[in-house]
Formats: sequence, structure tokens, C-alpha cells
Amino acid sequence: MSSKDIHPINDRLLVRTDKESMLSQKARVYWLCGLSGSGKSTLAIQLEKDLHNSGIFSVVLDGDNLRNGLNEDLGFSDADRMENIRRVSEVVKTLLSNGLVVIVSLISPKENFRVSAKKIIGVESFREIYVEADFETCRKRDVKGLYAKAEKNEIEDFTGTTSSFEVPREPWVTLNTENESAIQSSQVLFNHIIKDVQI
Ligand code: ADX
Repeated sequence: MSSKDIHPINDRLLVRTDKESMLSQKARVYWLCGLSGSGKSTLAIQLEKDLHNSGIFSVVLDGDNLRNGLNEDLGFSDADRMENIRRVSEVVKTLLSNGLVVIVSLISPKENFRVSAKKIIGVESFREIYVEADFETCRKRDVKGLYAKAEKNEIEDFTGTTSSFEVPREPWVTLNTENESAIQSSQVLFNHIIKDVQI
């Protein structure tokens, strides 16, 4: 089947501003990137609650959750990570056109992955958040036991060892979870976001 045989109905659907007005919020994506164990999922979980309590409708797209379903066929080579990010970006794009606030928590380790996410989603709705904790800190936390496994060479392409993490150059916000508690970081993030989503 050629792509000419595809007939999208986008132009017949309600537009983003219809949904934004109904929800009284601006559609945005807050894209949390950082090493495994840096605190992305913890912040996403807290942020969803804080936004909910303030009347903001949000959706969390978390790497481990998605790799359990939509992305279960993908591994951790650069090509698979790029595909992971492409699929998530397409989902985000659809959610944004429905007026939602989306919280993404994905390692998204390479600059070109994040550039490509911005390109798919549209830079005006994209907020890059760097959840900063260095390799040593994450290795010591080792919440999931993955750093210990990686040290024994039991994990291929592990971020921070056999696969590199490129620090974001100009994030919208940086949260340093080494110096701040999860509660402090999520408060800082919430304060930025609540101003950004208000109509
Ligand atoms: S990404 O690089 O493609 O953005 P994603 O956020 O989806 O990664 O998945 C990362 C999660 O997968 C980690 O939090 C960890 O639980 C798990 N994981 C399993 N293998 C690896 C690996 N080789 N490198 C990094 N994380 C891994």
C-alpha cells in the first residue's frame, strides 16, 4: 500500500484550542531526561499529583512503562532508543493536539534524539528538563539494581557505561537531585509549570 492510500482525518477533528479552552490549560510537554536512577520517574509521579490537585489534566509517559507495552520490541542500541523516542514523540503530538499536559520521563541520552523529538512535537510546546545526578550518585542509589548488573557486564549498552549520556545544552529547567530532595525538586518544577500552563 502506498502512502497515497492513507487519508488522515486531522482537518475534520476539533482543533487544539477547542480542547485547551475546555480544559482551561495550555497543552505542553515536559520532557524529563537524565541517567537511570536520576529521579525522573519519582518527579513525574509527584508532578502528576500536584497538577491534578491544581485542576490541570496531565498524562505521564514513562520509559519503563512504555517498554512494557508499546515499545516492548525495542532494546537499547542507539537505533532502538531513537525509535523509542520517535514513537513517544508521535504519541505526545497527538496528546498535545487534544489539549493535554504531557510529562515524559525517558533517559533520552543523546542530543540528536532530543532534537528529533522537538522537531516532531514542535519546539513551541516542548520543555526540556534535565534531571541532573551524576553517574556516581546514580550508581550508589542503584534503585533497580541495574548499575550492579552493568558492572558485571550483564547489561548491554548501559547508559553511563557502554552507552554515553550527552548532557542537554540549554534545558528549560535543570533539577539537581543530588543537592535537593525529591520534594524540593518537584516543588521547583511545579512552580515553573503552573505558570506555563495557565491560559
Ligand atoms: S531511552 O534511552 O530509550 O530513553 P528509556 O527511558 O526508554 O531509555 O528506558 C530506560 C529504562 O530501561 C531504565 O530506567 C532502566 O530501568 C531500563 N534499562 C534496561 N536496560 C537498560 C540499559 N541498557 N540502559 C539504560 N536503561 C536500561
